[in-house]
Amino acid sequence: MMHPTSLDKRIELQLGDITQLSVDAIVNAANRTLLGGGGVDGAIHRAAGPGLLEECRRLQGCEIGAAKITGGHAMAARWVIHTVGPVWKGGSRNEPELLARCYRSCFALAKQHQMSSIAFPAISTGAYGYPPEPAARIALLETRKHLAHNTTLKRVIFICFDAAMLSCYRAAAGIGTENKP
Ligand code: APR
Repeated sequence: MMHPTSLDKRIELQLGDITQLSVDAIVNAANRTLLGGGGVDGAIHRAAGPGLLEECRRLQGCEIGAAKITGGHAMAARWVIHTVGPVWKGGSRNEPELLARCYRSCFALAKQHQMSSIAFPAISTGAYGYPPEPAARIALLETRKHLAHNTTLKRVIFICFDAAMLSCYRAAAGIGTENKP
């Protein structure tokens, strides 16, 4: 029987729109230009207003696996942490490590700014084609590693845009699999 892993109480799995969350930082799944795009990137820029793009222009891009921070502008979130996930190319182009690096880079900025709450979308699982469940496992693993040694963050929210993604995160967290062989 698979014992449900006890999900750290600081980790929350939610369904919804990241732009509406009132947290210290929301994470944007951006591209290397940081000049906006579709998906969650487009949603964040629409919700933040034109000031976000102006601020992003001054950042001069971002490397895959790295992260850069801006204000939240018109959104409730105080900051936006922009990170660039890997494009899925089959899994043998260092994609898992690059995706893990996105989460580590975001946590480093959260620590630097002494944040107590942060919300992540499912980085790379949309336009970049990363298979959702392995991506969710990487997200949770890196989060557990960070939380094991850091107490400043009190809330890490994984905000899923659809029910299918939420069930991926629940499966990756071992929730809802109890009493199954
Ligand atoms: N809130 C939360 N999650 C969202 C939202 C939203 N408002 N909108 C989309 N998502 C989800 C998608 O359903 C997907 O699960 O975010 C996840 C990431 O998908 P994408 O936004 O397509 O990001 P990604 O796969 O990392 O591709 C990044 O797409 O938008 C462009 O500029 C971006 O070039 C970059 C690429």
